[in-house]
Amino acid sequence: MTGGREKIWAISRDLYVVLARDGRYRDTNPAWLSELGYEASELIGLGFEELVHADDLDRARDAVSQMLDGDVVEDLELRLRAKDATYRWFAWTCVPDGDVVYGMGRDTQRRRDLDEQQRHAQKLEALGRLTGGIAHDFNNILGGIGGAIEVVAERLENGRVDGTRRLLDAAGGAVKRAAGLTHRLLAYARQQALSLSDVDANALVRELELLLRPLIGEQVTLELRMQDGLWRTLSDASQLESAVLNLAINARDAMPAGGTLTILTSNIAHADIGRGRRDYVVIAVSDTGTGMSPSVIEKAFDPFFTTKAIGQGTGLGLSMVDGFARQTGGRAIIESTPGQGTTVSLWLPRHVGENAAAHAHVNGAVVRGRGQHVLLVEDEEMLRSIAREVLEEAGYRVSDCAEAYEALRLIDAGPPPDLLVTDIGLPGMDGRQLALTVRETLRNVPVLFVTGYAWDAFADSQTLPERTAMLSKPFSVHALIDAVADLLGGTPT
Ligand SMILES: Nc1ncnc2c1ncn2[C@@H]1O[C@H](COP(=O)(O)OP(=O)(O)OP(=O)(O)O)[C@@H](O)[C@H]1O
Ligand SMILES: [Mg+2]
Repeated sequence: MTGGREKIWAISRDLYVVLARDGRYRDTNPAWLSELGYEASELIGLGFEELVHADDLDRARDAVSQMLDGDVVEDLELRLRAKDATYRWFAWTCVPDGDVVYGMGRDTQRRRDLDEQQRHAQKLEALGRLTGGIAHDFNNILGGIGGAIEVVAERLENGRVDGTRRLLDAAGGAVKRAAGLTHRLLAYARQQALSLSDVDANALVRELELLLRPLIGEQVTLELRMQDGLWRTLSDASQLESAVLNLAINARDAMPAGGTLTILTSNIAHADIGRGRRDYVVIAVSDTGTGMSPSVIEKAFDPFFTTKAIGQGTGLGLSMVDGFARQTGGRAIIESTPGQGTTVSLWLPRHVGENAAAHAHVNGAVVRGRGQHVLLVEDEEMLRSIAREVLEEAGYRVSDCAEAYEALRLIDAGPPPDLLVTDIGLPGMDGRQLALTVRETLRNVPVLFVTGYAWDAFADSQTLPERTAMLSKPFSVHALIDAVADLLGGTPT
């Protein structure tokens, strides 16, 4: 090497290397000293493997065998150990030539550091939005409850009871809002308890149609395009309804001057959306509205991200839709062109196999028991006594206790229960174990699980055992009675 070329070898900040075919260093440029701290004399004779990070060795060896076949290696990212024992990333281009290999390594550590910093900043920003949003919403709710309590207390002190009912109702409403908020947060965190059943998305969308028409207003045309012979999916019907509703409301909001809202269902075979090739049932909600810019799309799934005016949106819609879809093994995907419209599609894994307990709606009617015997196991005293009262009011005979062993004793003493209602998180033996044990003797007894969290044991299998259902806390009185009546095959009277 002579003249100008030699200069480049000398001043480059990229690493240049000449390796022997057996992988030993033959020559290195001065950048090895400035970047990694090695003089050429320290390296010559060493094997290239000595400086490569253990986790990158396999890839390095693959590249070497590729070169032995005479191929060029490009953009091979490897970490090299510097003299101070830290590792740095370099992207290598290597060319075999006769009995040597020429290599050039470009530092990619700086770019990686920057990417990492940016990711970290984005995470912090999202986290800030999340905590800020929760704090803000909960403050409002607490303000509502606290205010009502204060006024009621004051009136009682003055011997007045007028208006207290209304105030307490308002406080009750605030509690419901708080429960709704935690539900949506759990959905986002993929930790809500799902009650999975075989769902026909076409039927679900058709049922929603009635609700949707008034919701989207007269300026928006609703079109349903349902695929014939749509596959089934294992999902939580009521969560899925609320996901589709959320998407429809977003679509409506994006079309203030009217437009067309289309809900399309389709079977998509062998698609890879990040979980390997699988079959999916897709529900796509499209609008002809404002569309979304790439930067909005990027943040749209973040909780509390909203472009809507204060009080118009909480920014939880899409985050809970995607969280829910992911919890059932799918995901949500946004496609949008500013000025033309948006499609948000729900990809739900196809369910094959026998019909699991189909989702039964008990429509509106008051369902009452006929003296069936319910065994209620719940360690929270207050919840237990409320549930007991509610069930007795609804016409059931209730035995209750606070833990599993006591429940087993009650069953031994007879009479056997027609239904077991049990909290999952019990001290000692948990609710799931209890149900298994009870079913050893009472094979067909239906079980209603009550839980504050998704149950991992079910998340794995993606399905509830037969004749069981799941109710997540906090639940309304109606939800409890409906679930009990469903399991006991109660009919509306
Ligand atoms: N169909 C759509 N067209 C255009 N923009 C959309 C659409 N859907 C969502 N977006 C954008 O994504 C943001 C986040 O949507 P998301 O549903 O999570 O929250 P939100 O609708 O603002 O509030 P919430 O759903 O909690 O009432 C919206 O504020 C809006 O900017
Ligand atoms: Mg929304």
